[in-house]
Amino acid sequence: MKKLAVYPGTFDPITNGHIDIIVRASKLFDRIIVSVGENPQKKPLFTHSERMGLVENVVETLALDNVDVGYFSGLLARYADEIGATAIIRGLRAVSDFEYEFQMALANRKIYPDAETVFLMPSEPFVYLSSSMVKIIAQNSGDVSIFVPKPVEIAFHKKFGGKK
Ligand code: PNS
Repeated sequence: MKKLAVYPGTFDPITNGHIDIIVRASKLFDRIIVSVGENPQKKPLFTHSERMGLVENVVETLALDNVDVGYFSGLLARYADEIGATAIIRGLRAVSDFEYEFQMALANRKIYPDAETVFLMPSEPFVYLSSSMVKIIAQNSGDVSIFVPKPVEIAFHKKFGGKK
């Protein structure tokens, strides 16, 4: 049986850290669907369609033939069930991520027991990297080019103006 994994996130916006996880996951599963969802605890900077557009653009550039893009609203576990995913991929950067991720993995397992949450560690340069940090740097006219792919850098430029 082909193993399908969902890689969910807010992707507000997608960073080089997310890309690192996508590439790692693509080597472990037959198919990955990078899925843009909503985190009820976050108020995103980019709209859903902007985030989707950026993820689609970046995934296309990666040219990995087993990686597609999707979106979901509502519960992640229900979506994973609907598309027949048997794994939920999450990046785990530091101990500080653990409690939230642990809770979410257990809740998702209760709702949809047929999917396992699989945590992947990013490469070291991305361990400290988060979308929130990148947004603060961009908002304050900092250079985000080492943290995000080019389309995201351009999107920040359009949002905030300033140096590209
Ligand atoms: O990139 P993020 O913000 O860490 O992604 C979080 C996301 C979108 C994966 C998570 O908030 C989510 O799954 N949201 C949908 C609601 C849900 O199913 N929550 C988990 C069970 S309580």
